[in-house]
Parts: sequence; structure tokens; C-alpha cells
Amino acid sequence: MSPTPEWVMMGGEDAESYKKHSAYQRALVEAANEKINEVILASLSLDLISNGFSVADFGCASGPNTFVAVQTIIDAVENKYRKETGQNPVDNIEFQVLFNDLSNNDFNSLFRTLPSDRRYYSAGVPGSFFDRVLPKQSLHIGVMNYAFQFISKVPKGILDRDSPMWNRDIHCTGFNNKVKKAYLDQYLVDTKKILDARAEELVPGGLMLILGSCLKDGMKMSETYRGIVLDLIGASLNDLAHHGIIEQEKVDSFNIRLYIAEEGELRQIIEENGKFTVEAFEDINQPIEESSDPKIFVASSKAALGGILSAHFGAEAMRKAFDLVEVKAHQNFSRIENAKPGMQYLIVLRKN
Ligand SMILES: C[S@@+](CC[C@H](N)C(=O)[O-])C[C@H]1O[C@@H](n2cnc3c(N)ncnc32)[C@H](O)[C@@H]1O
Repeated sequence: MSPTPEWVMMGGEDAESYKKHSAYQRALVEAANEKINEVILASLSLDLISNGFSVADFGCASGPNTFVAVQTIIDAVENKYRKETGQNPVDNIEFQVLFNDLSNNDFNSLFRTLPSDRRYYSAGVPGSFFDRVLPKQSLHIGVMNYAFQFISKVPKGILDRDSPMWNRDIHCTGFNNKVKKAYLDQYLVDTKKILDARAEELVPGGLMLILGSCLKDGMKMSETYRGIVLDLIGASLNDLAHHGIIEQEKVDSFNIRLYIAEEGELRQIIEENGKFTVEAFEDINQPIEESSDPKIFVASSKAALGGILSAHFGAEAMRKAFDLVEVKAHQNFSRIENAKPGMQYLIVLRKN
């Protein structure tokens, strides 16, 4: 049985695309704008701001959020330069923006929709951010928005019915301690790889901005909105298998390579890595609430998860699964409405 495929967002620009359903992720960057400006002003050495300044977005998807993220950084660097030198950055700094994602990401949509008024050179960097994707000490500021939650493979034992780590669910719900430990162990390995790779790519003093959602300590994934989305998708897939529309074995071999860490786990991961100084670890209050309207619930979860479900089960089964998710979203309305809020964070690390 083929393993769970790599997870890319729904490409294109139509009504089902990630492009049309990523306002939630974008709102975090927008809400963090002021803090990012503040930290870059305080923590980026003016010595690093030279003629060529390189910014990379790791896990950029097909836009438009990545454009907001990189422009926020560029504006902040220019602001610092203007304030501290009195000179016009436009005449003196040339920015290069590197857009990184997996090679099956929809880079065409990204390149087609690059902002026409951008003042940076752009390039795509295909490849997995768990490994090095840029030359040594070539990067000044890196950013990751909603991409620090992936693991590189389904942990050992999770798909094995005979293992104590066997997971009945399609993700780490947080309610099975052995499963949770297996996921966390894999997450520790993978986040170390991400941080080590970025530490090599960044110039000393360069910054890494990491934004995303985490759980408050002790909270379980399945108590949150995104956990409920995954629970309902899992239940729908099992229903389809029960009715013989897909094979049960196919469902059993499917587990989402995602681990939403607790805040304390994130702090520990960064501290133990030791290659960075923490310049900021902020709880960002972003204004967009996730919708409990079943139609919106399904549309946004399909934009993020439709691609991986299609790759594993086929497009038709994916659509049938989401039809069922909509029914279940109606039935679980109060559970969705009462989901516990996670925490949206901005972490800024400075390479030692
Ligand atoms: C939830 S999306 C976030 C996209 C974008 N940063 C935003 O703010 O909307 C996560 C992105 O990470 C990418 N991704 C997942 N695993 C990756 C990997 N190992 N290497 C590079 N990109 C990866 C996915 O393809 C996807 O585009």
C-alpha cells in the first residue's frame, strides 16, 4: 500500500484553490506586521543590510500570502535602513526573494500572480525545507508561515495494526499518549533538521521568522477547530470504506504528516537546538475567526487538504469524502462552535 503522499495545497486560482481560502493564514502575517517591524528594527544589524539582501519564504504555496510575508519583511528592512542611515533604501538595496516549496507546488500560479509593483528579483527554489535548499551563509532573512507543523514521514508503528503505536485516527488527536509520543519524537527530529538547515543558510546575525498555530500546553489537537476538521475527514473516509467506495486498507495506510506542537514544546525545541537567539516569541491576536458555517468549514478544509486526499484516494473519493464532511459538520455544529482556541505565534530567531 502506498504511503501517505506529500502534502501540497490545492493549486490554481479557482473557487476550490488554497489561494482563495487562505485568508486565515494571511491574517496572522498582517496581525504580526507591527511586531515584525519592531523586531527587525531592534535585532537586525545594519551591517547586514548591503547592496544585495536575500529573503526566502519556506513553504510559500501558490500565493498570495507569501507576497504579503516577504513584502512585510522588505518594508521593515527598508524602514530600518531609512531611519538609521537617512538614505533612500530604493537607491541602495537590491532585494532577492526566494520562494521555496515542494516541487509539486503550483509555482506557475505563484509566478503568474507576482505583484506587478514589486521591487525585488524573484526565483523559485523547489525542494524540501527539511534539508538545505540554499547555499551556505547566503540568506539574510527567512520566513515560514504555517509550515512549521509538518513532519517528514509518518512515525514508525503508526500504520501497523500490531504495534502499540497503531493509530486508529488519521492524525495525532492528542488523546492516545503512545501515538502522541511517536508524533512528537518525529517532530523533534524534523524541526531540528529545519533549524539546522536554516542555521547553515543564514548569515551570522540573519533572522528566521516562524509564524503559525500551536496548542496551549496540555490542550489536545482534537479539541481545536483544525483537529475537529481532521476528525470529521477521518470519520468520512471510514464511512466511504464501510460502504465499499474505497478500501479500508487505503484508509488505514493514511495518516496526516502534521504535528501541532504545544507552546512549551516549541520553546524547548528552539532552546535545545542552540543555534539561534530568541528575539521574540509572541502570542499574536489575529482577527479572523474560523467559521463554523458547514459550507465554509468544508471549503477551507478542502483547499488545504483536498490535494493530499486526492493524491491518496483519487479525486472522486476526495469529493465524496468532503460531501460527507459537510453532513458531519452540520451534525457537529456545537462541537465546532465550542472548539478551544489555539495560539497564533510569531517566533523570531537570530542566527548566533
Ligand atoms: C499551509 S501552507 C502555508 C503556505 C503559505 N506559507 C501561507 O502562508 O499561506 C504550507 C506549505 O508548506 C509546503 N510544504 C510542506 N512540506 C514542505 C517541505 N517539506 N518543503 C517545502 N515546502 C513544504 C506545502 O506545500 C504548502 O505550500
